Amino acid sequence: MNSTPKPIVEPTVLVIFGATGDLAQNKLYPALFDLFTKGLLPQKIAILAFARRDFSDEVYRKFVQAAIVAKKNNPDPVQLVNFLSSIRYIKGIFEDDASYRTLADVLASADKAFNVCANKLFYLAVPPSLYENILNRLSRSGLTIPCGGDGGWTRVLVEKPFGTNSEAARRLDRLLGKLFNETQIFRIDHYLAKEAIQNILVFRFSNALFEPIWDSKHIERIEIRMFEKETAATRGAFYDPLGALRDVGQNHLLAMLSLIAMEYPKGFSATAIQKERAKVLKQLVPINSISVKKIIKGQYAGYKQEKGVAPESNTETFFSLIAYLRNSRWRGVPIELTAGKALGESKTEIHVHFKDVNMGRGDIECHRNTLTFRIQPNESISILFWVKKPGFDNQAVHPQTLSFNYHDSSETKMLPDAYERVLYDCVRGDQMLFASTEEMEAAWKFITPILEKWNKNPLKTYAPGTPFDQIISNHKNL
Ligand code: BG6
Repeated sequence: MNSTPKPIVEPTVLVIFGATGDLAQNKLYPALFDLFTKGLLPQKIAILAFARRDFSDEVYRKFVQAAIVAKKNNPDPVQLVNFLSSIRYIKGIFEDDASYRTLADVLASADKAFNVCANKLFYLAVPPSLYENILNRLSRSGLTIPCGGDGGWTRVLVEKPFGTNSEAARRLDRLLGKLFNETQIFRIDHYLAKEAIQNILVFRFSNALFEPIWDSKHIERIEIRMFEKETAATRGAFYDPLGALRDVGQNHLLAMLSLIAMEYPKGFSATAIQKERAKVLKQLVPINSISVKKIIKGQYAGYKQEKGVAPESNTETFFSLIAYLRNSRWRGVPIELTAGKALGESKTEIHVHFKDVNMGRGDIECHRNTLTFRIQPNESISILFWVKKPGFDNQAVHPQTLSFNYHDSSETKMLPDAYERVLYDCVRGDQMLFASTEEMEAAWKFITPILEKWNKNPLKTYAPGTPFDQIISNHKNL
């Protein structure tokens, strides 16, 4: 991967569908502004914000300004004014062809202003139920057709979850495949774009210390855990039809699993890496009607009263399951996948627990090493190991930690945000950190049967702020 990002010169128009939503407000605009200040957005850019609300350009720019100020400490006022001036607001109804004709007119006038057929990037920052509607209407308005010849490209960024089960995902993929070719489709899983997650592969494959023992002979179990203190409060209407397993299990957690478990790729091209990630996901042992009973589901108290949530909702806000892989490297190694909202802390971590060094000899105390990838906050990689306890006792040992903390190193003080990476890579056409059709299908193939079979699993209520291990032990004591 090239560490010196290059500025992009071709004129580009970014169209954001769902431009007043939570995603645009909290993630996209702060990331776009950061790219802008680093000189990494195309030098000629127009941002067209498409949403239902009745905003003028001026009022919408104030809305964006507030979103940026809320996330960034004292943004440079001159940069902010310049950035905001590239934004136009289009009031549009997603289900109305006339709105797309307006969009087509605005796009044509942008081309005219740039004096060239500009690159077009369509970002679907809307709930998944709207994807098909928007794509069909974009296509009917002729907007999915690139300029041709030397003209600019057209690309589409689709947010996760990509569909809601195997069938819906396949239908969406077929539709995208009719309108675009694969190089134009960017299926977002912003976890793939997190710096500390990208480091999993580099760390594994660049250190002779670990790669030779990266298997079931040496590793006892793996835990992939994504905890959030935040509730679903501001996103009830989006979250309630999905639940935690679809919202983050099918994508973020399985993406981390694929990077932890994949084989060495044939080269570091986007397709080679996507292929290896997909291969792992295809090797997940399907959950059957017996193993499904062990999956833990929970819902935080007060969830049903959140805005946009059905009063009788059975949606899970917490799950914990054990996955296995059927390949020679990982056979028999339990991989715990746990995620939840309204927990005691916000933390995403992967723990790789090694087997005890005794290997059954039993003549010294048994000690295990643990390697931890802290994805956020305070990104780090640490190794728990054992040393002799200073003193007269020859056998007394105690644990110590070796660690690399991103924030201790000056060159990593400016970790790019995942959405900066998503947007930048899409504009420069690099698909490595995006999910392929194969990965998406394999992930749904594992998740869909769980969704179909886990209705009878008890949905345990937990108090907001409960530590995750307490939820698990409460569940086991049911
Ligand atoms: C999103 C989920 O994909 O990821 C949210 O829809 C979740 O529910 C979010 O809160 C977490 O992202 P991050 O980058 O803040 O860890």
